[in-house]
Amino acid sequence: ATVHHFTWEVGYMFWAPNCIENPVMAINGRFPGPTIRAKAGDIIHFDLTNKLSTEGVVIHWHGIRQIGTPWADGTASISQCAISPGETFPYRFVVDRPGTYFYHGHFGMQRSAGLYGSLIIDVADGLKEPFHYNGELNLLLSDWWHLSVHKQELGLSATPMRWINEPNSLLINGQGKSNCSIAAATCNFTELQQCAPEVLRVKPKQTYRLRIASTTALASLSVAVANHKLVVVEADGNYVEPFEVDDLYIHSGENYSVLIKTDQDPTKNYWISAGVVGRKNKTSQALTILNYESVHAGKLPDSRPPDTPLWNDTIRMRSFVEQLRGLNNSPLPPPAGAHRHIVLLNTQNLYRGQTKWALNNVSLSLPATPYLGSIRYSLIDAFDANVPLESFPNDYDIMAPAANPNCTVSSGVYWLQINSTVDVILQNANTMSANTSEIHPWHLHGHDFWVLGYGDGKFVDGVGDKNFNLKDPPLRNTAVTFPYGWTALRFVADNPGVWAFHCHIKPHLHMGMGVVFALGVERVQGIPGQALACGLTAKLFMNTKF
Ligand code: C2O
Ligand code: CU
Repeated sequence: ATVHHFTWEVGYMFWAPNCIENPVMAINGRFPGPTIRAKAGDIIHFDLTNKLSTEGVVIHWHGIRQIGTPWADGTASISQCAISPGETFPYRFVVDRPGTYFYHGHFGMQRSAGLYGSLIIDVADGLKEPFHYNGELNLLLSDWWHLSVHKQELGLSATPMRWINEPNSLLINGQGKSNCSIAAATCNFTELQQCAPEVLRVKPKQTYRLRIASTTALASLSVAVANHKLVVVEADGNYVEPFEVDDLYIHSGENYSVLIKTDQDPTKNYWISAGVVGRKNKTSQALTILNYESVHAGKLPDSRPPDTPLWNDTIRMRSFVEQLRGLNNSPLPPPAGAHRHIVLLNTQNLYRGQTKWALNNVSLSLPATPYLGSIRYSLIDAFDANVPLESFPNDYDIMAPAANPNCTVSSGVYWLQINSTVDVILQNANTMSANTSEIHPWHLHGHDFWVLGYGDGKFVDGVGDKNFNLKDPPLRNTAVTFPYGWTALRFVADNPGVWAFHCHIKPHLHMGMGVVFALGVERVQGIPGQALACGLTAKLFMNTKF
């Protein structure tokens, strides 16, 4: 296999993603980090050096399952010790499957600080994608705050909690205006400006593959290309039955490929827009230009940017994901049903006055010693021995704030039988405020899951499962739970390791919205010494030479 070797340094630099200068976390002096491209079956090797000087760092390769290399998953406190300032960690893994992915920091709020970039895997030599296109365009979407991540982090943990509010800007490929309107031509961009929109240049009468990934901290987005239809062909590295839409909903942690035909008037340019949905907001759309090659790139489109759909049109949002179907011949879930049935009630709670998010009333707090090492070496004191609950009380009213808002905090893990089939029902509920229920995009590490279905209200055993799609469910690694609804997932727990399963909204995860699955850890081989060089595993190996 081809080995791609990268030497990366992570450090802060001043940058103006939305024309206002702030510190950003950069890789080799670049924001966003470099776009990585490789072919399925290749090995990627990153020597990642931490140049942050006062904080640890890790990088997670979102959507790469890390089959056989759970220690390369890049999750602080789960798969490895954070890399200390000045130190270098070797991430080495196989990218086994073509698709659209991204990478990002997975320690504290580092993703929100700008530590992210695109990761694109092409089909192996001699193989073809199941659809045709002439060229590619890449859109990495993010949201951006002027409030420093340190203030964000402190505020989220404060008593009472100080919310980060809505983003100041949305960024496309790290660029977004803040106080001017491109559409009204009140922005005067000079070409070198860091916030100037990236121009996406196309030839007329061709088909382009638009790769769209969302690494937002909070925002769910709607993406549209004026005058052009989008044909969805890929979701999270899995092919889907193609379907056509005017606009695409994308939540944090999701990835899509869509095909567009450049069949419009080639003497014009067209807006590409991304706007916030799912939360009431005042954040303006991110805009960039689809530039037909014979037109001057600076020529503004003469039509308005596509409108963002109503922020609270959940029905429309849900009908988008319900159109996703696995492409013919995609792997199907084991029909025999699941060995394990875990229901996770998503609630907002209080713990000693702090605002938390909890699953079955337990809010996740990560331990000092990463689980992979502590479980592998049987250091059972490293985390909470209590096993978290598999369901919640029958009489819990998901439509109202809980009578008792208090939850507990724990580092306990769900132990999964290796190769077992696991069903997870994500049950949404009311938050602590009346008539409010939020969107949560749930992301699983180390595996893909089939999305078996969505429903309104409380999931009822023997009723909700009647309508599971076992015929052509899409395989994904991220799926949304809608306000007051449930989402049903199934996966085969076949990748030994310790894996996070969490809400991809950064502040929610920070407030405990996640669980940890451990399976087959005794089979894990080759954990690099540096992944273990903290907490109780460090003590254990103090006298061992690596
Ligand atoms: Cu992209 Cu655990 O996250
Ligand atoms: Cu959430």
